Amino acid sequence: MSVERPRGTNDYGPEEMARRRAVEAILREAAHRFGFREVSTPTIEHLDLFTTKSGPGIVEELYSFKDKGGRDLALRPEFTASIVRFYLAELRNLPKPIKVYSVGNVFRYEEPQKGRYREFTQFNAEVIGAPALQGDAEVVALAIECLRSVGVRDVHVRIGHIGMLRAFLKLPPEDQGKVVHWLDKRNFPALKAELARLGLASLETPLRQYIELKGGTEVLDKGAKLLSGVGTEGFEYLKALAARLKLYGVEHLTYDLGVVRGLDYYTGMVFEVDSPNLGAEKQVMGGGAYSLAEVFGGDPVPQTGFAFGLDRIVLAAEAEGVKLPVPRLDCYVVPIGEPMQTKALEILQTLRRAGVSADIDLLGRGPSKNLDYANAIRARLAVLVGDAELKKGRVAVKDLDSGKQEELALEALIARAVQRPKA
Ligand code: HAM
Repeated sequence: MSVERPRGTNDYGPEEMARRRAVEAILREAAHRFGFREVSTPTIEHLDLFTTKSGPGIVEELYSFKDKGGRDLALRPEFTASIVRFYLAELRNLPKPIKVYSVGNVFRYEEPQKGRYREFTQFNAEVIGAPALQGDAEVVALAIECLRSVGVRDVHVRIGHIGMLRAFLKLPPEDQGKVVHWLDKRNFPALKAELARLGLASLETPLRQYIELKGGTEVLDKGAKLLSGVGTEGFEYLKALAARLKLYGVEHLTYDLGVVRGLDYYTGMVFEVDSPNLGAEKQVMGGGAYSLAEVFGGDPVPQTGFAFGLDRIVLAAEAEGVKLPVPRLDCYVVPIGEPMQTKALEILQTLRRAGVSADIDLLGRGPSKNLDYANAIRARLAVLVGDAELKKGRVAVKDLDSGKQEELALEALIARAVQRPKA
């Protein structure tokens, strides 16, 4: 029997879990403020949901298996395909636009390293059925609001348009997928070989120059020149999107025509967020406008969305020293001497029933060991239950942050305990 956890998976201890939940709660709250509602889809899906369109990036990375009935299944590597399946089966009956988010674990068979795992958590949001400009602006604005709400500031938001590249390549989907894949991976020898195979060697230079274009509106004009013959529709669209995002208070956007994205379903605006503090795996979020409903046999409908890697946004917050609102134990109850056990347990019950988080020694330790423990678990208040104070109808309450001690009646203790300081 192996007692090690599988490669690329994580255990999360209480402190880390509290930080993850804090970030998750902030992301959920931001989504609710934007009118997104939560949905949930299965962790396992039919394999062909992903092989149909997600592209080589995903297909090579799937955890797939046959179930006992011989069906080909896969652990979900992302949410988007599942949400579109759900949309076509049921959500399409809801009033449009559909604005939904999901949080959960996804699985990719990747080479693990810091920030890159085989099981990780995504926070995913999608808008289906809103006109492209309105839907894209809402989605980009939510992603930026998520970062602002968590408090992560040292980030680069980069926005591009994959549709222009696809129009320029004018290739059958499979060939186009390969070229886009190698561009995304910046694997230039493989790109060269693929273009040569397709008889398009002359495109290598303009493509490589194109994906280096990054900056203000000037890069859109340069991009249009490089992709000669394709027109400017996508670039004009990005300008209109930037103008609409200004109305959301989003001021500084960097255009980056090198945002290519690893998934095959993107067809329009694409965007990514990096945290330069994270080293190699610095992309905390990726998304864009895509066309999957058609691929799954549905009617065309505008679709756009994004996903944050929860693990990476937590790492980014930690790297910036962001103080996260992590809940702490309000009261740790310490009986002073064996005869106080009964009274201490009564006080514990009263506190817990009043909505105060409270704990008590289970190991029969003395007061000083108990205070060490209370400090170690970062409790806020130690409630010392001693005979002398009890006779006055009070307990001694020690603030474990300031070290200050005072005597309080139980009602006053409860009132104090529920006034939790903001993180
Ligand atoms: P993605 O870029 O493949 O997009 O993943 C989104 C985010 O998940 C990445 O930006 C990254 O933060 C995180 N991530 C990806 N792989 C790993 C990994 N191995 N370990 C830890 N974190 C990782 C999508 O999944 C699209 N479905 C997003 C989307 C939604 N597009 C439209 N709607």
